[in-house]
Amino acid sequence: EKGGYDHFMLKEIHEQPRALKDTLSGRIAPDGSRVVLNEINIPQEQLQQINKVVITACGTAFHAGLVGKYVIETLARIPVEADIASELRYRNPLIDKNTLVIVISQSGETADTLAALREARRKGARVIAVTNVVDSSVARDADDVLYTWAGPEIAVASTKAYITQLLSMYLLGLYLAQSRGTLEDKEITQIITDLRKLPDKVASILENGTNIKEFVQKHCNCEHAFFIGRGLDYAVAMEGSLKLKEISYIHAEAYAAGELKHGTLALIVKDVPVVALVTQQALYDKTVSNIKEVKAREATVLAVASRGLEEVAKVADEVLYIPRTHQMLTTILAVVPMQLLAYYMAVSRKCDVDQPRNLAKSVTVE
Ligand code: M6R
Repeated sequence: EKGGYDHFMLKEIHEQPRALKDTLSGRIAPDGSRVVLNEINIPQEQLQQINKVVITACGTAFHAGLVGKYVIETLARIPVEADIASELRYRNPLIDKNTLVIVISQSGETADTLAALREARRKGARVIAVTNVVDSSVARDADDVLYTWAGPEIAVASTKAYITQLLSMYLLGLYLAQSRGTLEDKEITQIITDLRKLPDKVASILENGTNIKEFVQKHCNCEHAFFIGRGLDYAVAMEGSLKLKEISYIHAEAYAAGELKHGTLALIVKDVPVVALVTQQALYDKTVSNIKEVKAREATVLAVASRGLEEVAKVADEVLYIPRTHQMLTTILAVVPMQLLAYYMAVSRKCDVDQPRNLAKSVTVE
């Protein structure tokens, strides 16, 4: 049932190109000019009145929400808040009938996420659920459902569900942009063209996955690891850090690269592994200067960089490259090396990859 793979997690990582294709399927107009989300039935009039988007979720799904915040604000020019469901539900959030709430949950059964959804509906918001399980509680209670078609995810560590959640954020961002007229047609077409190429690009990263193993061998006995990035790279850094601690039990932290010198730099000492995400051309110089800061403390830096930013090899110890894509879509590619890193670390530390200690696949209690 693991399809020849040692673990469900590795199988699911390799299923990502297919999961992305399935999630895209039928959601793009045949001429590639628009996103078509037939399952979302928000009346035009209501769509026009939306003045705020709130995204809520837990864990990895929340990390997809952080990307959603960035993407929806950029594409549709609406203010977006992303908040952890267990926080949102207890703080009497500013949500009303003009708020669009997006709830993200692989299982569709997470207790806090479901409670946040119900609270949002009580306050009159329109709620879209992004979930992987047909007819789950979250799907049933939402106004509209955008299914991720990742297929059943067995490993506790979420991989293929997360990548399809990311894709859903881009689809929703484009959908809202279309309805609000915030993007030119040619921009929409360009993003869609690049979105469609992502499954093959993820597949190409998976084919080259082996060079991660060397880094893993060198660092699998470490106690701490740090993930740094700016903008979208920071959101992916948070996911990379969660994956690593969840399955390899290495203490990992993600930091917005610019925050390092506000405290965390004190923890950066000789040989500490730092994973630096460098996919954003516009933030390149800034992140490189943060890499230099940690190198000056003799940390070991593994950079995950977009093709075209090869100069980073001059400052990092090792670089894993992801293929070029639209600058907003890099998350879908950059997360793959994060997943493989966590996986091989866990394997070399002989951890129970698919069933990490203390964790359950679906958290139906608070
Ligand atoms: O089923 P959900 O997406 O609502 O689950 C949310 C989190 O419990 C989940 O993403 C968790 O963080 C994963 N184990 C991370 O790999």
